[in-house]
Amino acid sequence: MKQLWWFRFVLFLSFLLTGFAQTTPNTTAIPTQLPGRDAILVGTDWYPEQWPESRWEEDLRLMEAANIKVVRLAEFAWSSMEPSEGHYDFNWLDRAINLAAKHRIASVVGTPTGGPPAWLTQQHPDTLRIDENGRRAVHGNRAHGSVNSPVYRDYCRKIAEAMAVHFGHNPNVVGWQIDNEYGYALMSFDDYTRKQFQDWLQSKYKTLDNLNTLWTSTYWSQTYDRWDQIPIPVGDSNNPGLVLEWRRFVTDTWNDYQKNQIDVIRAHADPRQFVTGNFMGFFDGFDHYKISEPLTFASWDDYVGTGHVDPFSNGLTHDLTRGFKRSNFWVIETQPGAVNWAGVNNFLNRGEVRAMAWQAIAHGADDVSYWQWRSALNGQEEYHGTLVGPDGTPVPLYDEIAQIGREFSSVQDLFRGTTVVSQVALLHSYDSRWAIQFQKHNDKYDDVGLLKSYYTSLRKLTDSVDVISPYAPLDHYKLVVAPDLNVLPKDLADHLLEYVRNGGFLVLGPRSGMKDDSNGLLPQRQPGYLGEALGGRVEQYYALEKDFPLSGAWGDGQVKVWAEQLKTLAPNAEVLMKYGPSNGWLDGKPAAITRTYGKGRITYIGAVLDDKLMATAGEWMIKNSAVTRAPIATPDGVEVSRRSGDGKQVFLLINFTQENRNVTLPRPMKLLLTGKEGSAVNLPPYGVEVFVEGK
Ligand code: GLA
Repeated sequence: MKQLWWFRFVLFLSFLLTGFAQTTPNTTAIPTQLPGRDAILVGTDWYPEQWPESRWEEDLRLMEAANIKVVRLAEFAWSSMEPSEGHYDFNWLDRAINLAAKHRIASVVGTPTGGPPAWLTQQHPDTLRIDENGRRAVHGNRAHGSVNSPVYRDYCRKIAEAMAVHFGHNPNVVGWQIDNEYGYALMSFDDYTRKQFQDWLQSKYKTLDNLNTLWTSTYWSQTYDRWDQIPIPVGDSNNPGLVLEWRRFVTDTWNDYQKNQIDVIRAHADPRQFVTGNFMGFFDGFDHYKISEPLTFASWDDYVGTGHVDPFSNGLTHDLTRGFKRSNFWVIETQPGAVNWAGVNNFLNRGEVRAMAWQAIAHGADDVSYWQWRSALNGQEEYHGTLVGPDGTPVPLYDEIAQIGREFSSVQDLFRGTTVVSQVALLHSYDSRWAIQFQKHNDKYDDVGLLKSYYTSLRKLTDSVDVISPYAPLDHYKLVVAPDLNVLPKDLADHLLEYVRNGGFLVLGPRSGMKDDSNGLLPQRQPGYLGEALGGRVEQYYALEKDFPLSGAWGDGQVKVWAEQLKTLAPNAEVLMKYGPSNGWLDGKPAAITRTYGKGRITYIGAVLDDKLMATAGEWMIKNSAVTRAPIATPDGVEVSRRSGDGKQVFLLINFTQENRNVTLPRPMKLLLTGKEGSAVNLPPYGVEVFVEGK
């Protein structure tokens, strides 16, 4: 007994001394890591159909030499795979996939439904979508098919099925991508869609009375007495209920559209082949949590456009994508230096592409793929960044990507079975974003910007933050922060209250708890169903013309854009921050209040805080919720991240600046990318280091 006690004490002490202690999560199957292949991969997007076959071998040789392990292909090759209706030609793709395999490169096959061929749209002009202004798309661009059209869907299912039958058992095909970058504007705004929307509303609301009541449609004489009177909302003055439901309908449309293809793929393909979709970060055209449900994992396309990588924005977007399925993900497209579609298509600095690649891995990606390998000699994207030039020889960035590939391969065993495990969750809700964007009340109000300001303050103090749906399980989080949960129906409030009652630490930001599920005002003051637990409420909200001071437990600073006058109602509710002199209404009034509830605590922040106050508010949250801090203090511009699993913790340090940065580790470590050992880490501009705790 005594010996056991002694052993435990030594173990505890060693944890304290190392400074890296944290529970190891239970990470079993991570489908983003492919059995028998490197755990972390570099890939590229290759379009063999655009080149003579005699060229393929050289392309693949160059890819292999750059340590590229995966290609995505075929997502725009419909006219090459089905040159005329029902006549499939997959032979060329078989040969391309086989040749890639010879170079130890796996293939991800994309369904080509983002680019219907001319024979199809000519034969069925009604499969061309109609935009918001009533104009029908013409051939010659992409995404011109109508995702709402049953005829179009039929063609999509047929090509996806033929591909699945053909490639579903190919050992070198590791997975599938459905279509390409689903988009809101890519809906077809036609009569058929309108009818689908009306049917969708009918099955949800059952009776028009119900819909009219929940939408308060007596307002401006909007009352409907037939389902076919309900419009698709176009323009910016619509009933809030209509607007929110339309967004949800769009989500369900994309879900059905992808299901149509996923079902036939799953019916014919080996279960080891994954199915993913490529998303666009914070793009809010549909609810990504729902669309991600049937996918094996989520992927996104990480483009900087003009300027340079902002580690917090980019890190936040990685974490958002990881949160779609609460699992590792792929960066299935990213820019090889520059894009062609931004205002200024500047090239990323030397080393910046590598820093970005490692950041993706640090935040839970298991693949980083460069779009694209080589520009077609004609076509819309001639100026985009590539790995080889129009002459087929490497461009200067090729060596940097080869270095990334080399490094991924050298440490890949460490990443096997690891993922990001966080004690902090930021709640992100499409319903709330849609509701706020529709009625911003202050055109400077920036929902993603607010999320980012909370993220930045918390991420600076920790080595990971999760970004998840408010409906996700919350039990294992020490701190849950909801920067703007505007739509907060009863079931969601109950979910949050249960978390707090059981000991959770919940922080709500401005505009919380204002709307019901139909985007109508709740008949209570904010935060609605959470008001009683908070022991306080919002007396009035104010859109601000200019910043003004506030002060209290988090120090002095400025409130920007939005301020709510709060009031404590329960005797044990405490005021944390108060407004300074401003518009008279807010002078001296509470700006942030807090109260214990059950075994936990609920806090409401009614003001948009400046960066300095946000930082101290973050300190307060981390300290009072007892979140484990990042074990390594990093200077400005250096990010520390941790992936854990399989009995080990892998740490990554990334310098996002163009200057040298020094970091001191709690004890000497073997640095795996430079091979050095010690506790002093010198990171050159855009430098990266990786080290591991555990086996
Ligand atoms: C998107 C598309 C790609 C390509 C790139 C260019 O992400 O999915 O096909 O057009 O943009 O940046």
